Amino acid sequence: MENTAYHLSGKRIIIGITAGIAAYKIPLLIRLLKTAGAEVQVIMTEKAKNFVTPLTLSVVSENPVISHSFDREDGRWQSHIELGLWADLIILAPLTANTMGKIANGIADNILLTTLLSARCPVLFAPAMDLDMFAHPSTQANIKKLQSFGYQYIPPEEGFLASGLSGKGRMPEPSVLFTHIKQNLHREQRFAGKKVLISAGPTYEKIDPVRFIGNFSSGKMGFAIAEAFAREGADVVLVTGPTHLQEKHPGILRKDVVSAQEMYDEVHRHFEQADITVMAAAVADYTPATKAANKIKKKSRSLEISLVPTQDILASLGKIKREDQLLIGFALETDNEKANALQKLQNKNLDFIVLNSLKDKGAGFATDTNKISILDRNGGFRSFPLKSKTLVAKDIIDYIDDKTR
Ligand code: CTP
Repeated sequence: MENTAYHLSGKRIIIGITAGIAAYKIPLLIRLLKTAGAEVQVIMTEKAKNFVTPLTLSVVSENPVISHSFDREDGRWQSHIELGLWADLIILAPLTANTMGKIANGIADNILLTTLLSARCPVLFAPAMDLDMFAHPSTQANIKKLQSFGYQYIPPEEGFLASGLSGKGRMPEPSVLFTHIKQNLHREQRFAGKKVLISAGPTYEKIDPVRFIGNFSSGKMGFAIAEAFAREGADVVLVTGPTHLQEKHPGILRKDVVSAQEMYDEVHRHFEQADITVMAAAVADYTPATKAANKIKKKSRSLEISLVPTQDILASLGKIKREDQLLIGFALETDNEKANALQKLQNKNLDFIVLNSLKDKGAGFATDTNKISILDRNGGFRSFPLKSKTLVAKDIIDYIDDKTR
């Protein structure tokens, strides 16, 4: 038999238990984790206490169970933010259709849900319910939604269900959940020790103190790529134009810039150290020739603003790129997509170019989804289906990893 002792030494695991009958199996999962050296903190919903007692769980986990944000009597309170940051991994098992629906919609009416919103670690979820509830379109849609957040799905198994029916809906046995946890925590950190430079978002080109020329880029694609690299161990510098987005992973160093020139300067400051550079920003191609010092007043005649080209950051990096550096660009095209992208790849001396076409519904700027193809300098070409930007980011880094091994 495999010796599991200390495999998970020092790893901090939150088990989120919701009100499903399979909750009675969770003490056995905790035993496996504790034997492997992990620290375990149980967070359970109030109704989950009908299925397994907090006393059993706190004895086996050697930690008091958490199910409230604060104590009404003595005012002691529990920081969900600290809990979320404490964990190396969260597993939701069993996960009811009800709590899954809340997670899918950002509802945060208990400490398990607020902790999840604060967490930066991998989240695994094991739904368990009756077969018809499981098959319902809302359950299926919510599973996809949680996956689009980057949560890892542990599908239920077929078999005898508490309702007396038989079918898909059973939570996998504790040993199976344990294997998923182990694999996730030991997952190869494919970019450990790598330095990655990403640009994201739009640039704003100043016309006068209150006006600018910008574009509709949200920064979502670049941020998703930064998170994907950081999750796999890379040290990421994220140079971003104006955006409301917030980076989550502590492995990301964010540098805010506004104009194309500022982005040029900041990107060049970090390029020499970067093993991999991905320019996902929508950099302005033109900037006003002069920036008025005072607000331009309205006049009855038309206003002409003279524009001059900005520097092409990506092309400038292509000129100084070393053999050991990878340079990846983006192309947003409306026609002759593949030929135009290939031209950009060659002109800018790139290793790969990620192409999105504005002809594809759900692709491009300010959406949560994207549909991409990747071309590489050796003639490789792969198209991917429409996906959430989180999953597209994973495709991009998988492709990079695959082609550079
Ligand atoms: N890019 C850049 N600096 C610029 C303009 C673009 O680094 N001043 C980068 C983008 O981040 C992207 C790639 O170049 O990775 C492609 O940008 P795009 O605007 O599509 O290409 P252009 O060469 O500007 O061509 P066109 O606008 O004519 O399509």
